[in-house]
Amino acid sequence: MERIDELRVQADAVILAHNYQPPWVKKLADFCGDSLQLSRLAATHPRSTIVFCGVEFMAESAKLLSPSKRVLLPASGAGCSLADSISAAELAQWRSGYPDAIVVAYVNTSAAVKALSDVCCTSANAVEIVNEIPRDRTVLFLPDIFLGSYVAERTQHPSLKLWMGECHVHAGISSANLEERIANDPDAELYIHPECGCTSEALYRASEVPGATIRLLSTTQMIDEAKKTKSRHVLVATEVGILSDLMAVNPITRFEAVNPLARCPYMNLVTPDSLVDALENGVGEVSIDSSIAERAAAPLLAMLDPGLRPWRFQ
Ligand code: 13P
Ligand code: SF4
Repeated sequence: MERIDELRVQADAVILAHNYQPPWVKKLADFCGDSLQLSRLAATHPRSTIVFCGVEFMAESAKLLSPSKRVLLPASGAGCSLADSISAAELAQWRSGYPDAIVVAYVNTSAAVKALSDVCCTSANAVEIVNEIPRDRTVLFLPDIFLGSYVAERTQHPSLKLWMGECHVHAGISSANLEERIANDPDAELYIHPECGCTSEALYRASEVPGATIRLLSTTQMIDEAKKTKSRHVLVATEVGILSDLMAVNPITRFEAVNPLARCPYMNLVTPDSLVDALENGVGEVSIDSSIAERAAAPLLAMLDPGLRPWRFQ
């Protein structure tokens, strides 16, 4: 910890950590947050180096938003099964069938996929962004089918088409897992990340079960809710790294994972040595092909600045 503190000053670095990171990383990070908060910080933080404790698409997004900064990903090989569920070639093919469509890409995508998209979103703002798109425009939403179904239900957008991708960690939090947990404690409040396999079941219960308290939330929204809740017991459907944060902000309520095996292998690749290596030797520097960097930054900037959303001036 002391060595990392010294190196962070020497390297003029800010350490950003996603909420799914292991507790030791979150303890030493300058900022922890969800994908949306970390994108905002990456775009505006004054330090010249960003060390991203998260996965590849997050570090890539930071580089796209701050091209003049050095961005380091201390976890080599930290991919994302959801980002891998659509390639640029597949998107180009899909889009060719809908030449006038607006393409909404979840941030969990490669830079090459972002380069073919109009606007990005995260779990925290997907409903708000799709709600803003004119109802007569076709929308291609990618790559997560569960988040997409949630957005379709909440926005009732008439021309929303969904890609059939998924995150293997969240898809593995199934309706059967949720039903089993609820059967043991029918009064528990539910916090559900909309990437989960149980999202449709949760939406169904929210509309059909009187008195059920079911919230669909990003990871930071879960922490904010945990601070306020008066519930005795909350069932949490997302990657289990978030549980330590929920317990830290509210030691009275019992927070329990809907599926305790839901751990993202990629989010847990960082080690103290790899972090030192990044800060000391610049290992893990992110670079993005100049032929796509500008086009890939545009949908991220449109996400952060509503004035840049293409349907406002097309
Ligand atoms: P957040 O949108 O809450 O950051 O979670 C997305 C996710 O799955 C990151 O891998
Ligand atoms: Fe990707 Fe899923 Fe891991 Fe998030 S939890 S980084 S979506 S594989």
